[in-house]
Amino acid sequence: MKKYITLILLLLIVTSCNHQQDKTKILQTQIDSLEIKLSKTYKPGFGEFMGNIQIHHAKLWFAGENQNWKLADFEMNEIKENLEGIQKYCSDRTETKSIGMINLSMDSLSNSILKKNKQMFERNYTNLTNSCNSCHQATNHEYNVIVVPKNPPFSNQDFQIKK
Ligand code: HEC
Repeated sequence: MKKYITLILLLLIVTSCNHQQDKTKILQTQIDSLEIKLSKTYKPGFGEFMGNIQIHHAKLWFAGENQNWKLADFEMNEIKENLEGIQKYCSDRTETKSIGMINLSMDSLSNSILKKNKQMFERNYTNLTNSCNSCHQATNHEYNVIVVPKNPPFSNQDFQIKK
């Protein structure tokens, strides 16, 4: 009798182990297929973020020149969001490590917008533009040269404050 009980117990353990192994296999297959799906989902590239930053960098100048400080502040936030996007979505690019070199000039420019000081804005805008180029040089993209814009990037946006 004792023998039988031990045998039954052993059988139970073995079948439950097998069952567990099957479950693990199914879970692994699900993880694998999710990983494949995840790797195929769209994520914006470094260049796309930069293209957006370029637009907001240009608009920012005309906002500041028109002393439209609310718009200037808005454009600064758009640049910040894109910089954060690079850190979030392009962490696999070595260039992302250099992104911090723009922080100081971003802070100074924010400060001049907060103070509504046009002269300070112009000086700090030039500094920001220089740090864009410093990073391009540091990341072997020295051929991407950023300058202070001469004309507004779009004709369908008014940069003046509505009176
Ligand atoms: C990490 C350092 C870094 C900083 C800071 C940086 N860039 Fe870039 N930028 C890059 C890299 C790297 C590329 C190339 C991206 C690619 O691989 O497509 C690039 C590309 C560009 C391009 C070319 C995109 C195109 O579509 O032609 C523009 C324009 C640009 N950056 C504007 C700016 C502006 C404006 C700033 C400052 C407000 C700035 N960048 C700050 C690294 C930087």
